[in-house]
Amino acid sequence: MIETPRTVTVDLGARSYDILIGTDLTLDLGEHLAATIGNGRVHVVTDETVYNLYKNRLYSLETDIAVTVLPSGESQKSFAVLQSLLNDLLERELSRNDCLIAFGGGVIGDLTGFAASIYKRGCKFIQVPTTLLAQVDSSVGGKTAINVPQGKNLIGAFYQPSFVLTDINVLKTLPERELKAGYAEILKYGLLGNAEFFKWLETNGSKVLALDPDAMSEAIATSCMMKAAIVAQDEQERGARALLNLGHTFGHALEAEAGYNGDLLHGEGVSAGMQMAFEYSARQGLCPSQDARRVTDHMNDLGLNAIKDSQTWLSNTDALMKHMSQDKKNESGQLTLILARAIGEAFVKKGASTETVRQYLKTLI
Ligand code: NAD
Ligand code: GLY
Repeated sequence: MIETPRTVTVDLGARSYDILIGTDLTLDLGEHLAATIGNGRVHVVTDETVYNLYKNRLYSLETDIAVTVLPSGESQKSFAVLQSLLNDLLERELSRNDCLIAFGGGVIGDLTGFAASIYKRGCKFIQVPTTLLAQVDSSVGGKTAINVPQGKNLIGAFYQPSFVLTDINVLKTLPERELKAGYAEILKYGLLGNAEFFKWLETNGSKVLALDPDAMSEAIATSCMMKAAIVAQDEQERGARALLNLGHTFGHALEAEAGYNGDLLHGEGVSAGMQMAFEYSARQGLCPSQDARRVTDHMNDLGLNAIKDSQTWLSNTDALMKHMSQDKKNESGQLTLILARAIGEAFVKKGASTETVRQYLKTLI
């Protein structure tokens, strides 16, 4: 008898799908995925860290299965690796009804999802996210991409999975730093649109980081529900979905300065970036300064990466401004920022003043 998981549905009409959330779901991977896979063949994509930890679970799928194991890390989101993965699929002569499974963190999910979107013009694809960041963000909503020398995630597609299987217990092997980077994305949902959830995190955030199963399940399910609601409203980021980028414009600039080599993780850039978005909003008189203080206090309480931990990458204001000027959300050469009127009330600010942003960044040096 397998466990009954919590279910969150991403409502996209004919492309709707479920996110199943529970403990030890990957122990029964075959049973959970059987209905989706049907008689199709399966190609799993994973990275070597995850493969070494969980390979036995992959073979609980009673079907014709092969596994592509990639080195761990952001460098795998490249044209060269994409081409090699597509070659693996072609060599197996997989059809569009066969199924790719992304079994790993956001790197594996983004790469595999993009491969699925272009393989024979689109084949079946399932996400089994194994990092906290992937469970609350990258596996949900259908953004897939690879990186190019010109920038991160610049080549990709919106392509929804058939299913997401989220096993909380695989997070037990995740390094603490990765866990905190994922927590930043959970915090983001409270800050952008759910003050009650932020309040809940102020009390329960430490339980989430301690992997308390009830707290973890609640935090992941609430995050997925919030993301699902935004994606259902604006799948291709023409409006409300931009709110999911709270903290990302500042954070991406920090990541670009850090050089995507593991010195600053995506979630670490996002946590410092959210603190910056609230501080900047407060300086502009848009948001009460006590809300900005609460954000900082919560981040300090849990030991999340913050402005004070990002000094190395804050020293060159001109370089940060240049990175921000290349953000995908900008329109007609004007800066777009996600700012806040309060905790739980983020909004899209088009045509933000570059001069006031520059002045704010200088105060952080
Ligand atoms: P990742 O996939 O590199 O995983 C982080 C590290 O954790 C890797 O070393 C991996 O091997 C290891 N790992 C994964 N699962 C593990 C487990 N259960 N136990 C032990 N180690 C494990 O990074 P990530 O943080 O999951 O994802 C970052 C990527 O996600 C970036 O490329 C980013 O652009 C992308 N992203 C995409 C979206 C989206 O909407 N598509 C959203 C946010 C981020
Ligand atoms: N991670 C931002 C989005 O999915 O839109």
